Amino acid sequence: MNFIDTHCHLTDEKFSADLTGVVERAKNSGVGKIINFGSTLKDSGDCVELAEKFSGLFAGIGIHPEETQDFDEKTCDKLADLAKNPGVIAIGEIGLDYHWEKSGEGRELQKKIFVAQLDLARQLNLPVCIHEREAHGDALQILKSEARDLKLVLHCFSGSLEMAKEIWKCGWFIGIDGPLTFKNSAKLPEIVKTAPAETLLLETDAPYLAPTPNRGKRNEPAFLLNIAQKVAEIRGETLEEVARYTTENAERLYFLRERGKKF
Ligand code: NI
Repeated sequence: MNFIDTHCHLTDEKFSADLTGVVERAKNSGVGKIINFGSTLKDSGDCVELAEKFSGLFAGIGIHPEETQDFDEKTCDKLADLAKNPGVIAIGEIGLDYHWEKSGEGRELQKKIFVAQLDLARQLNLPVCIHEREAHGDALQILKSEARDLKLVLHCFSGSLEMAKEIWKCGWFIGIDGPLTFKNSAKLPEIVKTAPAETLLLETDAPYLAPTPNRGKRNEPAFLLNIAQKVAEIRGETLEEVARYTTENAERLYFLRERGKKF
């Protein structure tokens, strides 16, 4: 079985001591490809370096909505330069996060930076990984007006079933993470059960959100199997089936088969 961890942060310092072991454990579990996403310009550069260093690792580059101080008028040019590296396969993670940002001014700035990076993705012809927390309405509105022509995933999906249906209607993907395995997973199991198979991606978001039975510990790509197992259980499918279609979906969204970089 082959899995792809479609959203990860192996640049996090929590991995600095044992990164090679983490990547090896992933490969031994069948997680042969891992996509790391940047949150700042520096972190994006670090993701690109990891993609150069390890086979099977890829990079998404972008400025996270909680890192707006990192964005200025030159940032998109710098990201475009980074995107020349063959390990770069996406723009992300970009989007809106209203959890800590309560001011109208701060939220407007997030929107401006979000739209600028959607434009960059269009110019570079790259798919997009969207981070969206507590900003469902605004995010959906921006995506519908600014991103109808883009390929994208709502990573670590936390919206309602109604919102998921809107996403699916647009031909977009949703990313499923550790919270699916939590006792308080709320509406997520119903969304996963209802989802058309061709819209689902698996991701760990490591080092965050470790699935049960490692909840609360450092997450890592090898734990993707706990999420896949839960998806299989909820949808009444085998683990092999889940591996097959989620891997195909990831390859389709991120053009992984067409990429020049060796796996
Ligand atoms: Ni993330």
